[in-house]
Amino acid sequence: MSGSVVTIASLKGGSGKTTLATCLAVHWHLKGLNPLLVDADPQRSTSRLVERDQALGGVNVLEQADKDVWNTIKQQRSSHSITIVDTPGFDSDITIAALAIADIVLIPVKASPLDVDRMMDTVRTLMSGVKGWAPTFRCVLTQTVKGSVISRHVRSELEDGGFPLLTSEMHNRVAYAEAGLFGATPSLIAPEGPAARDIAHIADEADALISTKKALSA
Ligand SMILES: Nc1ncnc2c1ncn2[C@@H]1O[C@H](COP(=O)(O)OP(=O)(O)OP(=O)(O)O)[C@@H](O)[C@H]1O
Ligand SMILES: [Mg+2]
Repeated sequence: MSGSVVTIASLKGGSGKTTLATCLAVHWHLKGLNPLLVDADPQRSTSRLVERDQALGGVNVLEQADKDVWNTIKQQRSSHSITIVDTPGFDSDITIAALAIADIVLIPVKASPLDVDRMMDTVRTLMSGVKGWAPTFRCVLTQTVKGSVISRHVRSELEDGGFPLLTSEMHNRVAYAEAGLFGATPSLIAPEGPAARDIAHIADEADALISTKKALSA
């Protein structure tokens, strides 16, 4: 998966982009890969986490919140096994640039009808923003409560609408915010815990998607 780019995008603020991006980067770092985490959000949420005690366990973070981030990633990607891009929660040239360079796009979406509508706007932007290019994208249900009716309902609504989803979900767990207090993620604080396990499953699905994409374009 060397040189692959995973962009985390959603036009809906607070859907879990930064949480997912940082957790995946730390997970791959702990697995001995050499990930690059790009903070392309002018809010600097990822960069601010890195300023805390555990500094995301030493993950390499690059901060660039302008549309030229596309070019920087292009130059840096071959020096890293995988590049993860955290994007702003609004429609912008930065988001389009980060989508354009992506091998796969993960779209975190909360299991609620309001969030689903906004997610569909994200997908429209995905499809119309970059001419002649159709990225591999997957929605990831976030902050779900295990066994709840609403997450099952939203999952089947999305599937019926033709929006592909990862099987794994980021369940609602306080471990993310607690780890964030120390500039960490659950994989660093409680590697055997349920949140770290959720992230490992999501990372495995992302790995499989990247491998398939590479095999098809080889
Ligand atoms: N799976 C989860 N369980 C519990 N809390 C979560 C989960 N995912 C995210 N959160 C919390 O939800 C809030 C928003 O998450 P996050 O900052 O990752 O969203 P975002 O999409 O990056 O937001 P923005 O659009 O502002 O950049 C944070 O307080 C985070 O700790
Ligand atoms: Mg964010």
